[in-house]
Amino acid sequence: MSRLSGSDRPYDIVLFGATGFVGVLTAEYLAAHAPEGLRWAVAGRGKAKLEALRASLPEGSEPGVLVADVADPASLRRLAEQARVVASTVGPYVKYGEDLVAACADTGADYLDLCGEPEFVDLTYVRHDARARETGARLVHACGFDSVPHDLGAYFTVRQLPEGVPLTVDAYVTADAAFSGGTFASALGQFARGRQMAAAARDRARHEPRLMGRRALAPTGVPRFAGEVGAWALPLPTIDPQIVKRSARALERYGPDFRYRHYAAVRRLPVAVGGVAAMGALFTAAQLPPARRWLSDRIKPGEGPGPQKRAKSWFSVRFVGEGGGRRVFTEVSGGDPGYGETAKMFAESALCLAFDELPETAGQVTTAVAMGDALTERLRAAGITFRVAATR
Ligand SMILES: NC(=O)c1ccc[n+]([C@@H]2O[C@H](COP(=O)([O-])OP(=O)(O)OC[C@H]3O[C@@H](n4cnc5c(N)ncnc54)[C@H](OP(=O)(O)O)[C@@H]3O)[C@@H](O)[C@H]2O)c1
Repeated sequence: MSRLSGSDRPYDIVLFGATGFVGVLTAEYLAAHAPEGLRWAVAGRGKAKLEALRASLPEGSEPGVLVADVADPASLRRLAEQARVVASTVGPYVKYGEDLVAACADTGADYLDLCGEPEFVDLTYVRHDARARETGARLVHACGFDSVPHDLGAYFTVRQLPEGVPLTVDAYVTADAAFSGGTFASALGQFARGRQMAAAARDRARHEPRLMGRRALAPTGVPRFAGEVGAWALPLPTIDPQIVKRSARALERYGPDFRYRHYAAVRRLPVAVGGVAAMGALFTAAQLPPARRWLSDRIKPGEGPGPQKRAKSWFSVRFVGEGGGRRVFTEVSGGDPGYGETAKMFAESALCLAFDELPETAGQVTTAVAMGDALTERLRAAGITFRVAATR
């Protein structure tokens, strides 16, 4: 296994999909916060659009411009060969993402994305994890709101609890935010691919080594009133529990028997009932191609909440961790989860992979496993709160 050093490639970070909704926010964040001397490039399929983006960035940040198209795998290979770290916002990933992961795994470039699609993560594990381990490439999916606050928040919570004992962590997510066309398209696509998702999960289970002598599980909870957080708890069917489970599998610190449950927290019962009904209606509509097309026309790719809406948006994830006779309440919170904070988490993850002293890992790894402490510190410094609210 080899790790690319600073001088091995022309760019430290290449941001692919830089002209999309989150891509632009990430480019702006990098331009404003990059360390001096960062060698970075914006990449995408449209040269004119990329040059306009570069011209809109503050003076002094001069990223290179690289043209690559997911329909042209050779262009993705050229892109991967020029980067130490490739950060891709080009989703839905199950539709557009695999060739870039393959190129990074093969050329030893670190790769990260904003994928919240379990099918894609399982598929890249089966097809590209082994090659990435050989070349030293780290493949880190879900480096946005999916799943950074949950993965690092569970990691933070576990570290407040005793070592070597069975642990449970329950997470309760609350947020006020809107979503973009890209996110909506990815969610609708996922709802329509239940069979493929289950098949990819089974295939992964056949390939993944069994965990010996320990257990790490993420069972689906049941809807209930959670007195510990004073809200109705609804199981959230996102990728986050799978990511947290994988961190727990990889890291002994999660103890011999770890369980994680993931909920949306809703204060008022009618809102909880309405939320479940709306999700059910969306899921049903996504199964029918004409209804899916009608829905995806409501918010187009590249569109998303404006600066005013984003400025008012916020998220909070409260965790209740228990084990070894101790109970701890922690919280991870911040601003606009889907976009402002996602761009921050994504850019900081890319900088962390490029520059920080990290544990030796390779292949498909989670944010907690690849970057746990270093990324937590970066996000704290960038204004995301990680705190212990109470211990009993
Ligand atoms: N919670 C989270 O973690 C989170 C939050 C936000 C977004 N996301 C995910 O991030 C992804 C991007 O979201 P978004 O709102 O930024 O979407 P978007 O605005 O639609 O951006 C998609 C990007 O993909 C590019 N693209 C499309 N086809 C391409 C091709 N053939 N070759 C090269 N590039 C191509 C687009 O290029 P053009 O600019 O040239 O069209 C654009 O830059 C989605 O999968 C979304 O689900 C996750």
